[in-house]
Amino acid sequence: MAVLEGANVRLRPLTPDDREEVFGWYNDPELVAPFDRYSQETFEEFCRSLESAPDDPTSLAPRFAIERRADGLTVGVLGHYRAHPVLEYLDVWYVVGHPAARGQGAGSESVGLLVDHLFRTETVERIGATCDVANLPSARLLEKVGFRREGTLRSALFHHGRWHDVHVYGITRSDPRPARPPA
Ligand SMILES: CC(C)(COP(=O)(O)OP(=O)(O)OC[C@H]1O[C@@H](n2cnc3c(N)ncnc32)[C@H](O)[C@@H]1OP(=O)(O)O)[C@@H](O)C(=O)NCCC(=O)NCCS
Repeated sequence: MAVLEGANVRLRPLTPDDREEVFGWYNDPELVAPFDRYSQETFEEFCRSLESAPDDPTSLAPRFAIERRADGLTVGVLGHYRAHPVLEYLDVWYVVGHPAARGQGAGSESVGLLVDHLFRTETVERIGATCDVANLPSARLLEKVGFRREGTLRSALFHHGRWHDVHVYGITRSDPRPARPPA
């Protein structure tokens, strides 16, 4: 599997050593849950999902770990999946699990690397992403990478006891993508 090098981050396959920490992020309400409902039920299921992901384009399992190049710290994970049974596009998702590593560009650089990689290696013309309308850092990240807001789904995501509206973002192969500093 590919390793994607950016100026400040490296996207690499997850190793067995990453699993406990990443599983911990998924289940920490302060880290991932404020805007999401997604969590794995058990550690064993999480490990199984990592193993089956390469053969399953719909898998929500993380496909890359985000490693900070300066000190080798694993600061997050991200993934992509076929989001719709008929429409032909991929959605991306992303988590910077170390709160102290947020706001320094790791998330947007990583998503930019992933988008470039997917347009190089997949035949899709569009890559999408969704985020809770209240998730301002996520929306800002997507706009920095070149995604455009295409609309809003009302009451599409249930978490924290109520339904939430969700912004839909997309970027097409021919859309401008901001240049990143070389690796
Ligand atoms: C969303 C997330 C991945 C962003 O990671 P990150 O490494 O901080 O992203 P970046 O530093 O590349 O960019 C974040 C941008 O959001 C901005 N931002 C942060 N908090 C903000 C707020 N409350 N309002 C508006 N913008 C905000 C930052 O200033 C930055 O923009 P800038 O570079 O123009 O200043 C991270 O916050 C996270 O993991 N959140 C929890 C999981 C999650 O929500 N994932 C996305 C699900 S859709």
